Amino acid sequence: MSTKSEMMSGKTCVVTGAASGIGRVTCTEFARAGAQVICADINLEGAQKTVEACAGNALAVRLDVTRPDSWKNCLDIAADEFGPIDILVNCAGIGRNGDFEEFALEDWNDLIAVNLTGTYLGCQAAMRLMRPQGSGVIINLSSIAATTGGADIAAYCASKGGVTALTKAVAMHGAPHGVRVCGLAPTYVDTELLDNAEIHFPSRRAMLDLMAELIPMGRVATPKDIADAILMLASDSAAMITGSTIYVDGGQTSGMPSRHSE
Ligand SMILES: NC(=O)c1ccc[n+]([C@@H]2O[C@H](COP(=O)([O-])OP(=O)(O)OC[C@H]3O[C@@H](n4cnc5c(N)ncnc54)[C@H](O)[C@@H]3O)[C@@H](O)[C@H]2O)c1
Repeated sequence: MSTKSEMMSGKTCVVTGAASGIGRVTCTEFARAGAQVICADINLEGAQKTVEACAGNALAVRLDVTRPDSWKNCLDIAADEFGPIDILVNCAGIGRNGDFEEFALEDWNDLIAVNLTGTYLGCQAAMRLMRPQGSGVIINLSSIAATTGGADIAAYCASKGGVTALTKAVAMHGAPHGVRVCGLAPTYVDTELLDNAEIHFPSRRAMLDLMAELIPMGRVATPKDIADAILMLASDSAAMITGSTIYVDGGQTSGMPSRHSE
């Protein structure tokens, strides 16, 4: 059995949304596990900071996930630098909230463009390389919001519901060719993505405490909780998992927190 430091040895991994939050920690964990990592983000400066944190075989690439030409450029660089791409993690995402009846079409379009179209374009670009290789893993970041609606996050919910459905469809395409496609749906994770929501609370601490109360395990997730699950899905331990979206949610979508036994 391989140790964690060699679990991804020799693998080439592209992570989008690499400049921040879950994407950044996913990059550092892949690097720690021996992978060669492309840290891709629209924020190149942030992606470069992630490369420094990787302290190994990593490279920053500017990628706008909403643009097919940008995907081609990114995957060409990855292949030139590190060879065939084994793993793609579609982690780039944005969050916006607001009253449903007042929500601007521009905000809806942005959310769909980055969260859903960006994931679709990533799946398509990676599949074109992985299918001829006969192997590969694509992991798409969905959310508990794909399953549980929120009145002020309708566009975000719709974008993530789309990601979960897309994951199943692309998995069907890849399965006969040895390419696995999985989804991962986190509960609340303390990252910059929650900055938009913070303004509705007296403080960030107050927001996180309220979120923790909604999670049966009693805490919000850390980026490392999510990165660990991503590495598991990307590893050979998950060789028979495809099409599924795994919830990393401390039990949030399984039932309500209960104090009946106290
Ligand atoms: N934080 C949470 O509570 C939470 C919960 C469930 C799901 N998620 C999902 O996890 C993923 C990562 O979220 P996070 O919390 O790390 O957010 P984050 O805001 O910390 O990081 C998102 C990253 O995506 C990048 N990005 C935005 N638009 C881009 C574009 N067009 N092209 C390339 N990169 C772009 C940003 O520059 C940023 O570095 C997202 O898909 C998010 O929807 C987050």
